[in-house]
Amino acid sequence: MKVYKVKNYEEMSKKAANIIASQIILNPNSVLGLATGSTPEGTYKNLVQMYNSADIDFSQIKTVNLDEYKGLSKDSDQSYYYYMNKHLFSHVNIKISNTNIPDGSAQNGQEECERYDNIIDELGGIDLQILGIGNNGHIGFNEPDEVFSKGTHEVKLTQSTIDANARFFKTKDEVPKFAYSMGAKSIMKARKILLLASGKSKADAIFKTINGPITPQMPASILQLHNDVIIVADEEALSL
Ligand code: F6R
Repeated sequence: MKVYKVKNYEEMSKKAANIIASQIILNPNSVLGLATGSTPEGTYKNLVQMYNSADIDFSQIKTVNLDEYKGLSKDSDQSYYYYMNKHLFSHVNIKISNTNIPDGSAQNGQEECERYDNIIDELGGIDLQILGIGNNGHIGFNEPDEVFSKGTHEVKLTQSTIDANARFFKTKDEVPKFAYSMGAKSIMKARKILLLASGKSKADAIFKTINGPITPQMPASILQLHNDVIIVADEEALSL
């Protein structure tokens, strides 16, 4: 693991955007694995600025997102589909047909998970996977568990994740309790992984990701077994 310690959220966002931009420049046909949440918002903002100054071109880029809430349709302003359009897709020249996000409104969960795994396979796997991390160490929505997950699957979100996500919803009751998420195995198959973390609430999870035992109780710890992981984290996230 290569760990870059940066001062704060702004520096993390700039560094992460530079790494993603390098990937796009080196391979304009890249398959990017994308994350949502607060952590990558600044990264996407920086990427949009680079696009506006003609430094990068998304026209051949393909994307697969990590996860989506079950039960939310594309038009819901809390869906990750909505988030991606708001923060990245609508600002750059990516072809929407080249973007992929699990369909939260799918009637048949198992079929949707299989469909999503097939998409990743047909794209030839992920070149660069961007990850945030939950306070409990989740990556994607792979929550602490007895075993590591494999492919895309339906997840029952833990109370700690529901509480953490409540800030995006009007009331706690509105926070979805289930999601579709890429599995740990799918994430580990990405050729390169970029994990981002900012703030004190991530310090314990980041400490255990880097130093702790490799255990499904701390899902991000599996990244220790990947041979090309870059962590960009700020001083608070690395404070332990
Ligand atoms: C989002 C995702 C999650 C988040 C994590 C951190 O697509 O897969 O693992 O990265 O919950 O969320 P934030 O960045 O909001 O702290």
